[in-house]
Amino acid sequence: MRHLLTVSDLSGDEIHRIFALTDDLKSKLAQGVRESILPGRVMALLFEKPSLRTRVSFQAGMAHLGGTSLMLGDDVGFGKRERIDDFTRVLCEFIDVLVVRSKQHHTVEQVAQHATCSVINGLTDLSHPCQALADLYSLKEQRGTLDGARLAWVGDANNVARSLAIACSKLGVEFAVAAPRGYEFDAEQCQAWRTDAPGWELQITNDPHEAVAGASAVYTDVWASMGQEQQQAKRKQDFADYQVNQQLMASAPEDALFMHCLPARRGEEVSDAVVDSPNSIVVAQAGNRMHVQKGILAWLLAAQS
Ligand code: CP
Ligand code: NVA
Repeated sequence: MRHLLTVSDLSGDEIHRIFALTDDLKSKLAQGVRESILPGRVMALLFEKPSLRTRVSFQAGMAHLGGTSLMLGDDVGFGKRERIDDFTRVLCEFIDVLVVRSKQHHTVEQVAQHATCSVINGLTDLSHPCQALADLYSLKEQRGTLDGARLAWVGDANNVARSLAIACSKLGVEFAVAAPRGYEFDAEQCQAWRTDAPGWELQITNDPHEAVAGASAVYTDVWASMGQEQQQAKRKQDFADYQVNQQLMASAPEDALFMHCLPARRGEEVSDAVVDSPNSIVVAQAGNRMHVQKGILAWLLAAQS
């Protein structure tokens, strides 16, 4: 039974396999072909936080593949009516795959521990693997190759940044992170990534201009993630010099792409001029969430009876 809780659960070869499945499904869809490769399969979605992209892209993608999906509401009483192990074992009697968005990463790990079906992390405080896979697929799609790519992250070294760093390490994509002091990656974590991927280029800096120099794409995310709303005002001050605007993009190559996982807080982490610029691929990125998740579902489920 395979789960996808973090990008670390996949090898570089497996990510390439998911991308190949995605290419195939995406090109068929463009020709109007919705191949029913998962007929009768049932996906449930259990979300403790709001979502537009993750929820709808998974549900639409599963419909294209001939399966069905159930968005579980508060009435199922997750974490309230019964123990998580009982809840999970029973739920898995009905379904083939479960997508979980949880406040704490530990929750999705607990669910996976007791699940007899595949569990996919649809975002936790620690990681957002489906986002990172779709983002690297998007970067590859735009550039034609990931060879020689450099991805620059500006802002909070958060769940999305962490998943992108791991995905980049697996695919040999140079990664640069510019975060303010106190919002950086854990140093031990960086060392562990470097040990796992010898030769991979990871640049850690507090200077956004340094990070975006030579970047193929500049990526940012909200300064306060879901669950950090109380810190909004303080973070706004601490990140004031980290807005991705035209002045910062002028330090990047002219053809550098702009990326964001969305939702964005325009005027905070990114200016309108950058998010609406011709180099911005934020909508294509969001669209690829569905295509890549179809690849993930095909990879996880097609081989299972
Ligand atoms: N990027 C992303 O995961 O968006 P949602 O929170 O809308 O799912
Ligand atoms: N870092 C953001 C990503 C949202 C898709 C959050 O966790 O809220």
